[in-house]
Amino acid sequence: MSGPIVVVGAGQAGFQAAVSLRETGFAGPLTIVGDEPGLPYQRPPLSKAYLLASPDDPDTVTLRPQAFFERHTLKVVHDPAVAIDRPRSRVRLRSGRAIPYAHLVLAVGARARKLPVPGSDLDRVLTLRTRAEADVLRGLLREGIRVVVIGGGFIGMEVAAAARKAGAHAIVIETLDRVMARVVSPETSAHVEAVHADQGTAIVLGRSVTALHGVAGTVSEVELDDGRRIPADVVVVGIGVVPNTELAQCAGLEVGDGIVVDEQLLTADPRISAIGDCASYPSKHAGSRARLESVQNAVDHAHHVATRLTGAPSQAYAQVPWFWTHQFGMRIQTAGIGRADDLRVLHGDPTEGKFSVCRYQGDRLVAVESVNRTGDHIGARKVLAGAQHPTPHQVTQPGFTFKAFAAQTATAAR
Ligand code: FAD
Ligand code: NAI
Repeated sequence: MSGPIVVVGAGQAGFQAAVSLRETGFAGPLTIVGDEPGLPYQRPPLSKAYLLASPDDPDTVTLRPQAFFERHTLKVVHDPAVAIDRPRSRVRLRSGRAIPYAHLVLAVGARARKLPVPGSDLDRVLTLRTRAEADVLRGLLREGIRVVVIGGGFIGMEVAAAARKAGAHAIVIETLDRVMARVVSPETSAHVEAVHADQGTAIVLGRSVTALHGVAGTVSEVELDDGRRIPADVVVVGIGVVPNTELAQCAGLEVGDGIVVDEQLLTADPRISAIGDCASYPSKHAGSRARLESVQNAVDHAHHVATRLTGAPSQAYAQVPWFWTHQFGMRIQTAGIGRADDLRVLHGDPTEGKFSVCRYQGDRLVAVESVNRTGDHIGARKVLAGAQHPTPHQVTQPGFTFKAFAAQTATAAR
């Protein structure tokens, strides 16, 4: 392809798509359309080290300096896309400008879900998706401040860990009966809860928030459905995300939980792809359609589309999904996609703070969650990418390692 490529969204996926297009040989005009100020940046530090750093510390979130974009003739336009004119193959921007495309990559990501209760518009009720929002939270975090986090998912537990490290009080309110239930097994949730409790995070499970109360326009209390009122100086809402599908929907493309794409990450329009947090794709590893929210997913989707657009023969997208979270000294890494009804087999000892949960559908390994066992995680990614998997019995045998199993099966396949 030589015609212009336009990428809408200057986040992790959009940035990577542009870089991978240049790396795979696309020399034509390439524009990244963004709606946030500054150069593309990564989000993972925003709920971790960034919250504890000083504004004067070196910038660890910007993905590449300005010179990189100039060197690779990557144009970043700060002007939100407001419409896709498919008949004329143009993207219309808020300023009224229109950019023509031969191919359009939608990498528009997701936005934080709003808390639908009275008082959620008070001052110091924050969400955490952007660098600008992280700057606000960082400016407020200090010793002794009372931080109430609504939602015990990734944002909730990472922010609580950062708050405790800053010497703040942290309370997490989660509606379900365990934290991080969307992404990890009950065993890992229990371990996360225990580590947080040990570090002084209070966790309230099985309760929801009915209202936020304030004094002079600033939040002061969080009211729960059992009538309890929890004092708060800052409230962080981390109750999940909503994919940005409106642009695609208005252009007549199919959307559901995300912009619907096929195994090549193409929409029904062969000139429009969708990648990253906004894309709902048929996942071999989920065994169904999935919309994943992770850096790996954004980066691997981007590579896949770039490879396809630059003409290399492209198989169905089938990368093994993986992600990580760091809280206090704990490093959790997951490979694959677990389901609620998985058979779970423990590898290692949770009481030592180092273990993996191997998740099975029947005899088929579908995911491995590793707590402070990076070796298991790396090995599990290789195993899940291959055709042969260890049985539930094998992983409990003394001396079993995913790394050795992956090496053995690779040798046997040669
Ligand atoms: P986004 O990063 O959301 O980027 C989409 C961009 O498109 C945004 O800048 C958006 O404003 C822009 N956009 C939307 N609509 C338009 C429009 N009409 N015109 C122009 N631009 C538009 N993942 C991990 O794997 N590990 C982690 O530790 C981790 N930590 C995280 C911490 C935080 C605080 C957050 C918020 C996320 C974290 N994630 C982590 C998730 C990961 O960052 C996301 O999965 C990833 O950023 C998705 O990339 P994306 O490009 O698809 O979407
Ligand atoms: P999440 O989906 O991980 O967790 C949301 C949590 O909020 C769930 O546990 C849910 O049960 C709970 N919840 C929902 N409604 C609630 C309510 N009304 N009251 C109380 N609890 C409620 O979403 P989260 O944590 O907001 O993260 C947002 C995005 O950021 C996700 O895309 C996530 O993947 C990403 N992220 C990823 C990280 C990582 O991979 N390490 C770190 C931080 C964010």
